[in-house]
Amino acid sequence: MTLKRENILIVDDNYDMLEVLQRNLKALDYHVYKASSVQEALDILKLSAIDLLITDIQMPEVNGIELLKYANEHYPFLPKLVITGFPSVNSAVDAIQSGATDYLVKPFTSKELKNLVQKSLKNKKASPIQFSKKKVERSETPSVYAGIIGKSTPIQKVIESIERVKNNRATILIQGESGTGKELIARAIHYKGSFAGNPFIAVNCGAIPENLLESELFGYEKGAFTGANHTKEGFFQAANSGTIFLDEIGAASASVQVRLLRVLQEKEVTKVGTTKPQKIQIRVIAATNEDLYQQVKQGTFREDLYYRLNVVDIDVPSLQQRKEDIPLLAQHFLTKYAKEYAKDKLKLSDRIYKVFQRYAWPGNIRELENCIQKLIIMNDDQADLPQLPAHFKYKIEPTGEEQFMALEQMEKQYIQKVLSSVNNNKTKAAEILKINRKTLRNKLES
Ligand SMILES: Nc1ncnc2c1ncn2[C@@H]1O[C@H](COP(=O)(O)OP(=O)(O)OP(=O)(O)O)[C@@H](O)[C@H]1O
Ligand SMILES: [Mg+2]
Repeated sequence: MTLKRENILIVDDNYDMLEVLQRNLKALDYHVYKASSVQEALDILKLSAIDLLITDIQMPEVNGIELLKYANEHYPFLPKLVITGFPSVNSAVDAIQSGATDYLVKPFTSKELKNLVQKSLKNKKASPIQFSKKKVERSETPSVYAGIIGKSTPIQKVIESIERVKNNRATILIQGESGTGKELIARAIHYKGSFAGNPFIAVNCGAIPENLLESELFGYEKGAFTGANHTKEGFFQAANSGTIFLDEIGAASASVQVRLLRVLQEKEVTKVGTTKPQKIQIRVIAATNEDLYQQVKQGTFREDLYYRLNVVDIDVPSLQQRKEDIPLLAQHFLTKYAKEYAKDKLKLSDRIYKVFQRYAWPGNIRELENCIQKLIIMNDDQADLPQLPAHFKYKIEPTGEEQFMALEQMEKQYIQKVLSSVNNNKTKAAEILKINRKTLRNKLES
């Protein structure tokens, strides 16, 4: 697989600015890495094949000029854009002298951003030495990747993101509705990547009682609390050198959030009941089916942690958004469960496949999987509409045709339905329709 989308790293200490830039660049189909400090930016630059750097100049601690100097020395052919908040000639000149290829003055329009980004990337392509962007080849058939099934464009984009991030330790936030495959994707990132030989530990933050989550994640020292009879390692220590998957991250309490921030910032963990930190090297993948950004706006999730987690974000499409994958997925589950229950593979009628296309799938792939599993258990070789669970009948969404049917046509269909229910007796039909016989006759003639 050749990666088509370009990687852009944006660096700004202002979270709103990061958000705006990300939204604009994602809309243009670029793959975005975010950093809210120069230190974070350096980590990403070292690990990922970045095609364009966009940085703010004024930042606390180390400023953008220092980043430009570093990048210029180490990645001379990487195009570098600066964003300057004050259109003073000096800062722009400083930036250009430090290696920036161009600059953008705040406030800018999305069109100005687009033009400058496209121009910078085009110039980069013409440079004599190509920056070391690896072309990633995939050997598997395109419809299956590490257990992820799907040919649709939205899921292929997810797979492309996995390819980009699998070999580095950038923190990843996976967002998507329940049952869309977030955990499957987290596992794919780990097992396809260079640390596949190291541990992968999945923790469901929503399933562990709040008072235990902290000590479970970070470990505890003997005597830290009543019942702490011995020192215990946490999930973080256990996942060291590998990947920790923090599912339902939105459920993390305020104190867990503070500790997590520290792990991500300092790359060290501190057990409960001690102040002595331990260095760790770990990739954090967090997932949520809630709108975490909304939680930030409501003040229940720390904004700084949100941006630390969301260095790369992967949005998992719902099954609604990739309905073309339904037959493939259904076939996959039919084979899987036929094997598991030692039965012949069940044949689903064409009508079932049609209903599957029209159904809303609120529980996404997990719901499809459960549905097929039940069909296999309850049926032998064939299944048709009557074999589907009852709720399918009520939840089937109207097709586009029905939704936009002309009134006249709808009236015609309804009249025909009433007529056939009374064996074409026009008097009875007119009674039901509460119109006189003449009107009915006129309608039938027209
Ligand atoms: N693209 C896919 N191909 C094949 N199987 C899939 C795919 N996506 C999800 N599944 C299967 O669907 C089920 C649900 O996936 P998973 O547990 O990863 O979802 P999730 O997004 O983590 O859900 P939740 O938010 O409820 O935790 C699993 O059995 C998984 O193997
Ligand atoms: Mg899950």
